[in-house]
Amino acid sequence: AKDEKVFTADEVSQHNSLESLWVSYKGKVYDVTEFAQSHPGGAKNLLLAAGKDLAPFWGLYQQHSADHVQEILARYYIGKLDPKSVKKSSTNNSDKNSAYSNEPERHPAMKINNPTPFNGEPPPSLLLRSFITPNELHFIRNRLPVPQVDISTFTLDIALPSGKTIPLTIDALKDKFEVVEIPITLMCAGNRRAEFNAKVKDKKVNGLSWDQCAISTARWKGVLLADILEHCGISYKECRAKGLVHLSVEGLDAGPDGVGTGASIPLERAFDRSASVMVAFEMNGEEIPRDHGFPLRLIVPGTVGARNIKWLSKISVSTEESESPTQRRDYKLFGPNITNVKTIPWEKAPSVQYLPVTSAILEPSTGTRVEPGETFFNNAPKFKQYLRFLRFTRFKEGYAYSGAGNGITRVDISVDGGQTWTQTDIYNENDPYTQRSFAWTLWNYELEIPEDIKEDKIEICIRAIDSNCNTQPEKIDALWNIRGLLNNSWHRIELLVDR
Ligand code: HEM
Repeated sequence: AKDEKVFTADEVSQHNSLESLWVSYKGKVYDVTEFAQSHPGGAKNLLLAAGKDLAPFWGLYQQHSADHVQEILARYYIGKLDPKSVKKSSTNNSDKNSAYSNEPERHPAMKINNPTPFNGEPPPSLLLRSFITPNELHFIRNRLPVPQVDISTFTLDIALPSGKTIPLTIDALKDKFEVVEIPITLMCAGNRRAEFNAKVKDKKVNGLSWDQCAISTARWKGVLLADILEHCGISYKECRAKGLVHLSVEGLDAGPDGVGTGASIPLERAFDRSASVMVAFEMNGEEIPRDHGFPLRLIVPGTVGARNIKWLSKISVSTEESESPTQRRDYKLFGPNITNVKTIPWEKAPSVQYLPVTSAILEPSTGTRVEPGETFFNNAPKFKQYLRFLRFTRFKEGYAYSGAGNGITRVDISVDGGQTWTQTDIYNENDPYTQRSFAWTLWNYELEIPEDIKEDKIEICIRAIDSNCNTQPEKIDALWNIRGLLNNSWHRIELLVDR
């Protein structure tokens, strides 16, 4: 063992492609180039960890702790990892005085759209793996540094119309009210924004370039906002009589001006138990991670991500909407004629609340090469020893979603650019209390490339239909808006045929 090779983390990181794919795990280095094509979880997913430490990836998919998986890995051992060469990866600013020097760890698979404040989305090949998105992969859209909350002194403050404030501890929330748990999808209004700049000529939208993964699903656990308001003696009738028609909230992510990110929703929705608006304290069975709002987050199902305020600290009723720029400005929809970001007539449009019906293809990605006769992503069984993984045959897959509690009734797919259509298989879960649909629908479809295919390209389009019979517009052009919000045109990808 004396002449055992020792590699530095830097050396390992250079073997980051399908041609040479190394990983490290518990201080050892493995060359898994040969294994990649037969990985039951897909070569693409293994590539996400190429040149890196496996631990955060295997943490997501516990089946890797099984003996037979460890045995496979052991076959590819090539040497040790020099422990001194390992640097902690982090999105923290190295300047200790920076407001961004105390950020939480983020999963190495996240695609970073902006490092500070952190904005990131999971890779499509992982997002489609499960109906519930693992917490580490849930998209993150922060506006400011992540606050460090002292839980021992924390209270949620309810400001009454009388001017009095009722502080509620987290224990009080858990004790006093019925606890509910609901699968809920959150989506950023900027989801699929990147397509605007890629597809609409001569115009540029204003905002971060999100692909189709600024959307994720979690089981949120908490108490209904309606219960809290009633307990505090706030009556909808009385509020209406006084013109208090908005429910406003504030988060602890204060900027230099000391004001946190805020939002408001119509007060009527806050009181409507069938809208399932909740103050959440758990996400997928765990305390809410710091990036997602620890310790409390307002969850407004069916509504644009920006209203789901993280680090929730204050609730009030008001005659006007929240003054927060995310309420009064950034999340408003304008016509394609408004093209100058400096002169947007912000006050002329209402703030976006409910989300429209949308859908996307997560796998395969555009530009993927296919062969005549190939069944999609059916590459695992090429290797005899993995025949038992036939169930992992990959389909073309993605999601569909509609706001306001509307379910998805159908997801149509076209493999000829929108000439003819057929239906995909769909899966979803309702809110167990209201039977409304606040979570996305996953769909899949097995595509066989015909042996006698003549075309060099296959254009695949997807569109969803919701329970209000709304569907998606075909073209992106007329949806263009200066902020690049709510692109719900048919999602399209192109496959290239190899002969
Ligand atoms: C499944 C091996 C890295 C994601 C599997 C299975 C094996 C395996 C043997 C089948 C497990 C079973 O019996 O149920 C390996 C090895 C790796 C590796 C040897 C490293 C050299 C990764 C990475 C990811 C990943 C980096 C990315 C996150 C998955 C997924 C599944 C899977 C998603 C399938 C889970 C499912 O569909 O139920 N892997 N894996 N693997 N792996 Fe990996």
